[in-house]
Amino acid sequence: MNRIIIDCNKKEGIISPELHSHFIEFLGACIYDGIWVGEESEIENYGGIRKAAADALSALEPPIIRWPGGCYADTYHWRNGIGERSKRPVTYNENFGTFERDDNQFGIHEFMELCRITGAKPWLNINLLSGSVGEMRDWVEYCNRREETELSLLRKKNGSPEPFMVEYWGIGNECWAGGGNMTAEMYAEEFRKYSSAMPLCDSRNPDSGFSMKRIASGADGNKPKERVEWTRRFFKALGQFRQPRLDAMDLHFYNWNVENPDDRDVAFSEEGWYKVINSCLELEDVLKEQYDLIQEGLSGFPEAEGFFPVTEPKCDLVVGEWGNWHGSSFKSRPALWQQCTMRDAITTALTLDIFHRNCRLVKAACVAQTVNVLNSLILTQGKQTILTPNYDIFMMYKVHRGAEKLSLRTENTSSVISGEGAFGKAGGSTLENIHAFASEKGNHVFVNLINADMAKEQEIFLEFSDGGKLRPESVRTIFAENAQDYNSAEEPDKIRSRQGTLPEEKDGGFLYRAKPASVSVLTFTAV
Ligand code: AHR
Repeated sequence: MNRIIIDCNKKEGIISPELHSHFIEFLGACIYDGIWVGEESEIENYGGIRKAAADALSALEPPIIRWPGGCYADTYHWRNGIGERSKRPVTYNENFGTFERDDNQFGIHEFMELCRITGAKPWLNINLLSGSVGEMRDWVEYCNRREETELSLLRKKNGSPEPFMVEYWGIGNECWAGGGNMTAEMYAEEFRKYSSAMPLCDSRNPDSGFSMKRIASGADGNKPKERVEWTRRFFKALGQFRQPRLDAMDLHFYNWNVENPDDRDVAFSEEGWYKVINSCLELEDVLKEQYDLIQEGLSGFPEAEGFFPVTEPKCDLVVGEWGNWHGSSFKSRPALWQQCTMRDAITTALTLDIFHRNCRLVKAACVAQTVNVLNSLILTQGKQTILTPNYDIFMMYKVHRGAEKLSLRTENTSSVISGEGAFGKAGGSTLENIHAFASEKGNHVFVNLINADMAKEQEIFLEFSDGGKLRPESVRTIFAENAQDYNSAEEPDKIRSRQGTLPEEKDGGFLYRAKPASVSVLTFTAV
């Protein structure tokens, strides 16, 4: 029997809602067609923004949306995207094989409108590679300056009298690759300049409650040796003399699936299923390693001299891009478009649970990307807007936002491993293809049960220790008839989450039957 024992007395950190954030970029059909259709379009829109996509996102309440890239940020000049739309310059988008003219219709005002509609906080990535410190300063002024200046008046003229109050600022993107092929030392030098030159705007005022976060380009999570070097040497270089402000480091991790050319987004073997499912679990170890390296780096900073009080250096770990990347997407038009089957839904759930489980180490994470690129939640085809099963996973997991992680251990007939160790080996559970996570909010306990077995239904016995009496209240579950199923324009709701069967109360615990290749969220209420 697969047993999961949840200790309701052992709380292990608060799940930051920002772990459920998003990334959108000028790449393929993410922005144009996906989010932006234009005011004149026959497709229903809010001033040019595709209504169905905006509505779907609003329902999801995205905590943060990161834009304009990604790699594209390093070729993007924000001034091209302001002013009368018909007069904006036409540039060319080569990003990741997009190869299309870009008429800059979706600029900062349109992005801020998307954030306003969906309730998201913006994260802007500045252009470190082909921009300049001055261009960055001007963008911050334009967005966040409250007092009347030339740039804030220009913002007003363009329709936004109130400052945007953008809190998150990414300084560079993947500076080890498309962002400049830099060494960690070179990047540290660039970071010093950009961070020091960034205007403070209202974040200077402690009473404003607003603080701008400078986010450094973190390591390539997929390169085991390089990622250690990157973080260690970046901090070492930054540890010389005085330090610029640094609030977070942005790690990127993709679940690459490129080795087997026959494995496609919608066509894969049993081997391909388990390959993709199991390799996403590596992220758990990467998070722990990178968190430790950041702490080690901060501890190497010199002690400040002089009279003025200094605050303890602190730097959060954030993940600006994550998701499955199937090799078949390289041949797709639009660029990097891929379908999302139940395989992607399971890895989306597993990855979000890795973030939940490590909520003391990681503060924000953005799925790559929200619309029409890679691990999408939304796909569009002409007038149609299709929600992938990944969307349902995000929706089902909303209950964990702001909740407290509960300790749990797993047992099966052959092994008993407790506490964190239960998920110690590359983030995997000790149970065969069963993964679990639990949190508590108010008088509810929420339990995620993932059956990653492609073909077999599995019985799971749940027990609660020290939790008082709990009653199963509801079950939300998602599964497919076939693991390769997906939602398309022809069958947009082929896989949808639905109400599941309540677990059976038995021997002081609860017995749940998890369908093959399924994700379930069980809600229990204290009685
Ligand atoms: O998400 C697609 C691309 O992947 C991004 O532009 C880049 O940052 C990463 O390499």
